[in-house]
Amino acid sequence: MINKYMEMKLIAQSPDYSLYHGDARNLNLIPDRSIDLVIIDAPYGIEYISHHRKLKPKEMIIGDDKAISILRESFWEIKRVMKENSSLYLFTRWDMYPRVLELCDSFFDVRNVLLWIKNNWGMGNLKGSYATCDEWIIYAVKGNPELRGGRDHNVLLFKEVPSVKLIHPAQKPVGLLQYLIYKSSKPGDTVLDCFMGSGSSIVSAVSLGRYGIGIDIDEKYVRIAKARLEQITMPLGDLEIEPEGEIVWK
Ligand SMILES: C[S@@+](CC[C@H](N)C(=O)[O-])C[C@H]1O[C@@H](n2cnc3c(N)ncnc32)[C@H](O)[C@@H]1O
Repeated sequence: MINKYMEMKLIAQSPDYSLYHGDARNLNLIPDRSIDLVIIDAPYGIEYISHHRKLKPKEMIIGDDKAISILRESFWEIKRVMKENSSLYLFTRWDMYPRVLELCDSFFDVRNVLLWIKNNWGMGNLKGSYATCDEWIIYAVKGNPELRGGRDHNVLLFKEVPSVKLIHPAQKPVGLLQYLIYKSSKPGDTVLDCFMGSGSSIVSAVSLGRYGIGIDIDEKYVRIAKARLEQITMPLGDLEIEPEGEIVWK
């Protein structure tokens, strides 16, 4: 069947990574069953608005129906390229969670939802609602991969990227991504992020000795990711990453 979406165009390549300008709904240069781990943070409109004050209006709105439709079409491709025993982490929000979970469950075997607790919170309705300081991450698998390290709990404390350092409005912290990459891959494995934004997941993968494949539909972000990756001089190797804080149960 002919795929109607933009074909992948190579922007940068090294022994550690490949970066493409392309559409997650058409992974035409990625062979079937070649990816060990997928980490994605697909676009949801409201997230754009609440995370960054300086965005241009045209960057702010991707409606929820559109976001679900993009995700559904990209899941066909993501499932095709994932190896038989491989893992997927998908960032979402509590208000998108029912729809994203149902969709994810129709393609993959959903194992958990992880709660990422941040060190700060969004604005929202200051008097009428609780301040949101979490993000939800669906952990799903194809086949039966195992997690590495100890049996950790599903509440993860990691600091958010400070707003003055953001180079993408929805930028995720490298420490959190390194933690997920450690748990679900080994050195030399291939990690895919086909909604990579500024490339945080690819930077994290390469820093831990994995091979990273990053794709974004906005070529500006592919170039930003390339610049970030060129700054990695000394990868850490296969380091076990710990959450940055501890949950104190009373
Ligand atoms: C939530 S952001 C990812 C941010 C990233 N986690 C980071 O740390 O910088 C989602 C990204 O998906 C990209 N995107 C939107 N639709 C896409 C599509 N169909 N295919 C590939 N990328 C897409 C957007 O350009 C945006 O950069």
